[in-house]
Amino acid sequence: LACGWLGKGRLAEPAEIVDAALAVLRRKRSLEGECVLVTAGPTVEDIDPVRFVSNRSTGRMGYRLAEAARDRGARVILVSGPTALPPPAGLELVSVRSAQDMAASVSARLAEASIVAMAAAVSDYRPASASPTKVKKTEGSISVEMVRTPDILKGVGTEKGGRFAIGFAAETDGVLQNARKKRIEKNVDLLVANDVTRQGAGFAGETNAAVLIDAQGEADLPLMSKRELAERIWDRVEQLRRPLPEDETNEANVR
Ligand code: CTP
Repeated sequence: LACGWLGKGRLAEPAEIVDAALAVLRRKRSLEGECVLVTAGPTVEDIDPVRFVSNRSTGRMGYRLAEAARDRGARVILVSGPTALPPPAGLELVSVRSAQDMAASVSARLAEASIVAMAAAVSDYRPASASPTKVKKTEGSISVEMVRTPDILKGVGTEKGGRFAIGFAAETDGVLQNARKKRIEKNVDLLVANDVTRQGAGFAGETNAAVLIDAQGEADLPLMSKRELAERIWDRVEQLRRPLPEDETNEANVR
């Protein structure tokens, strides 16, 4: 283009071209016909117009999971808290801010989904009320009353019917015990447990290490790219959803 930023002839960003080429090359179409609802990123809970409470999530794991599902032929709805990531091509991005916004979007779109994957780091608490004007400092200390937000995944676990639910557990200690408990309490079919203190795993970065926990077994996966982990998660989902002859389990297939 001679000048403008938009219009016929402008080359797409290299990262977008690579993404689109990989989408074609990796096409497995094994999730064709499925509608996958993914949550990703942090939520942001406002204190006043200039301050908020949030967490370290960058959204990468959820975005890679959504992209991998898209490349396997699924229709994907990605409900994302604020992130610095470019919107992935070929899927529907629903941008939200707070845990309450995310809960409302998930509940509005749940009926369409056959698979739900909750990778978002949802704030468990929010300020009881956000001040409409900037809170001014005074001499003494202040405290902000925090109240609970809805547990979105738990709600999905209760209402999911025949849907397949994937949950994540971000832990710093007692990783396996806490994650096993979360899988049962939130009624999820597959739980991805993360030790977020481990080098190269958890928040930020392009790599992660996780343990996949389901009713039939556990698979301790080594450090790998978040995209590769996303592929391993979908492989396991597909295994677990495949109908089996009676008296057989998928146990031997846990990698
Ligand atoms: N989750 C959710 N809604 C919340 C909190 C968590 O949907 N209000 C989901 C996350 O997306 C994740 C799973 O529940 O899939 C576990 O999140 P995690 O932060 O590890 O655990 P919590 O349930 O918040 O428990 P705790 O903070 O006590 O470890």
